[in-house]
Amino acid sequence: MKLAVLTSGGDSAGMNAVVRAVVKAGILQGCETWVVREGYEGLVRGNTGVEQQDPVLPPPPPEVHIKDDNFLKNFRFGDGELLKDGTGDLPTGRTLKGRYIVRVGWDDVRGWITEGGTLIGTARSKSFRTPEGRMAAAYNMIKEGIDALVVCGGDGSLTGADVFRSEWPKIVVSLREQGKITEEQSKLHAHLKIAGLVGSIDNDMSLTDLTIGAPTALHRICESLDNINSTAISHSRAFVVEVMGRHCGWLALLAGLASGADFVFIPESPPETNPWEDEMCAKIQRHRDMGKRKTIVIVAEGAHDKELQPIRADYVKDVLSERLGLDTRVTTLGHTQRGGKPCALDRIWPTLQGIEAVKALLEATPETPSYMIGICENKIARIPLMEAVATTQAATKAIKDKDFAKAMSLRDPEFVD
Ligand code: F6P
Repeated sequence: MKLAVLTSGGDSAGMNAVVRAVVKAGILQGCETWVVREGYEGLVRGNTGVEQQDPVLPPPPPEVHIKDDNFLKNFRFGDGELLKDGTGDLPTGRTLKGRYIVRVGWDDVRGWITEGGTLIGTARSKSFRTPEGRMAAAYNMIKEGIDALVVCGGDGSLTGADVFRSEWPKIVVSLREQGKITEEQSKLHAHLKIAGLVGSIDNDMSLTDLTIGAPTALHRICESLDNINSTAISHSRAFVVEVMGRHCGWLALLAGLASGADFVFIPESPPETNPWEDEMCAKIQRHRDMGKRKTIVIVAEGAHDKELQPIRADYVKDVLSERLGLDTRVTTLGHTQRGGKPCALDRIWPTLQGIEAVKALLEATPETPSYMIGICENKIARIPLMEAVATTQAATKAIKDKDFAKAMSLRDPEFVD
């Protein structure tokens, strides 16, 4: 199998661990391994440049196969840290200009498990959303002989992968008719195998317990809240902290639990009363009356009231200042939540998920559904991708329909209790 991996959509900690695991597991299973730079955009652009090899380098390693007992001896270490210098070139002299689909070896992903963001780049590709873009992407993959793809991204990116897979047979026929690929290539590449891994700090995908990057982002928020707590206590101040999460309140809710916040606003469970100001003020005043010297209110970026009117951190600050007389500040944590080194969980789970993705692809047939490799009750699980996407989208729709109990249960059934 010739296997490529790409990252798509917003970056998240743990994406590099996925790429590393897919590459290493692929090699150990006898696959040829590739990375695609800049997400789907890289697939569409393909390879126009010529990969140049430094003439003093030894020749590339022979095809390595797990059945070869000596396979470890055959690895050529020293290809080194693909793209890490940001120029797109390998330190050993392989020039990658104009090349988005790059063959990689064991050592190209060395050390990636500890790195934040995604070293192969990510993008929100407009061209891949068009049929012409997907046709170009398929052509570029077939040219390199790639027949399997691992995509690590959010629900939009994974839906894109499933659409691509279902259109693939028709695209192949069309490429053959246009004379762009040979009869033999069209037979060899009649079907595409895909596997999806959810990379998102928001933990917003249903049917999996955790998305890749969510534990790190939560940890980052908790560290910031610890810092805010100490200054808040010193001045007996209130802080309104805005956290990311798009339509999902997981980061805000769990950060509230982990830091002992006084009040948390999340999209799935707006304040019980509307207007909500009295409800919030009564709770906070009670905490102050009990002797609390600081007040922390967390606002998820997608928070709103029961009528779907947005709740903004600045407005919450005004309410706390004017009604309770609290000296209040607003802190927006922004992209500090998304960057930085992955925590242990965002190294361990993505590694196991990457290995499982390779296994799922090796076992895939044209009849098996596209799988999302998720986590269910502490076990790695293959979940039909489109079922997970549909449930996620139903949760977002339930919020728009003001059916908040349904939204909560679709996000995470266990949380309802
Ligand atoms: O989906 C991840 C996320 O970080 C959301 O929490 C946030 O709403 C969004 O991406 C921010 O996107 P951008 O980096 O494009 O501003």
